[in-house]
Amino acid sequence: AKVIFITQANESVEVEGDSGSLMELAVQNGVYGIDGDCGGVCSCATCHIHLSPEDFDKVGAPAETESDMLELDDNATEYSRLCCQIPVSDEIDGMTFTVAG
Ligand code: FES
Repeated sequence: AKVIFITQANESVEVEGDSGSLMELAVQNGVYGIDGDCGGVCSCATCHIHLSPEDFDKVGAPAETESDMLELDDNATEYSRLCCQIPVSDEIDGMTFTVAG
């Protein structure tokens, strides 16, 4: 899948991958603002992104552990996800994600 991250510096970064999590893909490509401090176990929220409403519906709502983490984050919106919990697959091809920081 090819996806685009919009960083907080308003740069758009296109990355491509076919396995692992979206957080891993972002970190491998040095996407600024996606740190993945906890290694992808849903406990740091340094992989927070915003989705468009349509993409959010396609990707699906966060599981309970993830929504608990997001509740603690002041930048969270109803279209927030922690991208370590999103697998890279064809389903997300073409999507654009905004780094929430
Ligand atoms: Fe820590 Fe996603 S990498 S919550």
